[in-house]
Amino acid sequence: MSTLEHDGLVSLLASLGAEINSSAIDSSKTRLYSRPTDIYRVYLAHIISKLLKCEASLVLDSIQTTSTLARGDLVIPVPRLRIKVNNPNDLAIELAAGFPDSHTFFLKPVAAGIHLPIFFAPSTLSRLLLPYIYQRGGSYGNDSSAGLNNKPVTAPRKKVIVEFSSPNIAKEFHAGHLRSTIIGAFTANLYSAMGWDVVKVNYLGDWGKQFGLLAVGRKRFGSEEELTREPLKHLLNVYARINALFKPEQDASRQARDQGLDTAEIESQGLYAERNEFFRRMEDGEPEALALWQRFRDISIDRYTSTYARLNVGFDEYSGESQVKPSSVALVESILKEKGLYTEQDGSWAIDFAKYGYKGLGLAIVRGRTGTTTYLLRDVAAVLEREKKYNFDKMIYVVSCEQDLYFKRVFATLELMGRSDLVSRLQHINFGKVMGMSSRLGNVQLLGDILDQVGTAMHEVMQRNAAKYEQVPDPEGTAEIVGISAVMVQDMSGKRINNYPFDITRMTSFEGDTGPYLQYAHVRLHSILRKANLTHADLAKHVEEKPDALDADLHKQHCVDLLRLMAQYPDVTTTAFGNLEPSTILTYLFRLTHQLSSFYDVLQVVGAKEGRDVMLARAALYEAARQVLENGMRLLGLSPVERM
Ligand code: ARG
Repeated sequence: MSTLEHDGLVSLLASLGAEINSSAIDSSKTRLYSRPTDIYRVYLAHIISKLLKCEASLVLDSIQTTSTLARGDLVIPVPRLRIKVNNPNDLAIELAAGFPDSHTFFLKPVAAGIHLPIFFAPSTLSRLLLPYIYQRGGSYGNDSSAGLNNKPVTAPRKKVIVEFSSPNIAKEFHAGHLRSTIIGAFTANLYSAMGWDVVKVNYLGDWGKQFGLLAVGRKRFGSEEELTREPLKHLLNVYARINALFKPEQDASRQARDQGLDTAEIESQGLYAERNEFFRRMEDGEPEALALWQRFRDISIDRYTSTYARLNVGFDEYSGESQVKPSSVALVESILKEKGLYTEQDGSWAIDFAKYGYKGLGLAIVRGRTGTTTYLLRDVAAVLEREKKYNFDKMIYVVSCEQDLYFKRVFATLELMGRSDLVSRLQHINFGKVMGMSSRLGNVQLLGDILDQVGTAMHEVMQRNAAKYEQVPDPEGTAEIVGISAVMVQDMSGKRINNYPFDITRMTSFEGDTGPYLQYAHVRLHSILRKANLTHADLAKHVEEKPDALDADLHKQHCVDLLRLMAQYPDVTTTAFGNLEPSTILTYLFRLTHQLSSFYDVLQVVGAKEGRDVMLARAALYEAARQVLENGMRLLGLSPVERM
């Protein structure tokens, strides 16, 4: 029977000799069907509440996970029990003394200062955890268990919009877009693992005066042939060339502004005039102007889509600044005017945030002097549109910390418009810079180029080990996937907000906490089964049918430690769901793989002298570890390879 259902879970617990407290199983504070540690929490709370003569649910709140196995599997910091005592250390000692001497699930604890560290009993761990993991397979670590406790599903699924990547057409795909793509895809995966409906939106920079300039550039430098062959490169090129011609004019205008002079005169001539005129025509919806822009946009999206696929990333919607409707923009402006928030400023319209007590937000132009919309105005209008279209519970913007101030302004504008309710559902997930990516990669400006270069570097690293290299069925394809893992793991290793240097040598190395190391750990686990001629299904069956045989070998300390670590995985995904830090998952995966690397010599599968049951128990353990590693890698957006 399956532990995914109430009766199955109860009967497994009964078979382990644990008394069942049915009311505890239905507790809303626990997620017994997705987090095995919660099963332990329920039993622990029960024991402690009996000792303290208090409600078990009060105790539940005080049980925490640990950061290292040496500190236990769970820990109760005694002050968190909120019981009035003179000395919490004494209470910890008292609780330890009152704890049952032997228990199905726990070793008898020893107080450590104000803490009561709790260790899981090795005797039942494998028999509880392995079926639990095998029955969940690729969903182990997810939390979409609402309704599994034999009660009807009451809460409808929640909806989140994750907006990420969002490059600008005809401009470089820079490190900020790369990070947004990686972190955004992770965020979307995580929400969907946690049972949310996710809408992935790419908000292209596909509108604005730069399109006017691009159109002007096309008249001079455009080539139909190149546009069909390499559209993204060609548009970049055209833009770069026209921009070089434009720069002196722009500098002159800046200089004038710095001197406090009126720039209108300068901007009414030359390329300025041509650019503004074209963009004006676009904003007026003139068919000819729009057709050209539409073509550039379509070709670009087409190319982006195939490049994102290399990263396992897909979008539900390619929206963009161009898609914001004039009626939504008008709505925003009418509210701003009606509320007296809009002030005229040298012919443009602005909000002076300082006036409304927003420190540091200054004044922001909302509609430009030539009458065209701004980035800010379009973004605010887009929020209202998406609210209508999707009725989202949450919307997340994954954008570089360079736009921190900008997003504060977007949110403040909505607040001033009286939409605090909406702002409370919005979140800007930011991240730091990648140092030296473009200089280290040479003249690389597109996502495809970045991936190509790293793939090539990875291929070279793999070739250095000729013996292994020869056994890889598709070396180029593998180098591409592992190279992408290299880039992604380097990106997700630290806290999002940290800057990091783009270091190809380091990221493609098999040593240290890198993508290739993680892939290699997966390959190694995978090869154990292959060499033993066993399949995942064989082991799932063994775990199901001969649970007692698992104990033959898996009570040994290092097996126990591995199991303990695997039990924590769903808690780790829960933590990551709280902080939206990919490093939370990655750090855990490295703990797991480090633990494993000390294993292989001690715990052999093929050639285990102790007999078939021991061999199967070990293989089942390795395969469960591989499953957890795979789940974590997939959550991060990595594709685990099987040979390398
Ligand atoms: N295209 C913008 C850029 O490259 C990022 C867009 C971020 N999203 C938004 N809703 N403003 O800087």
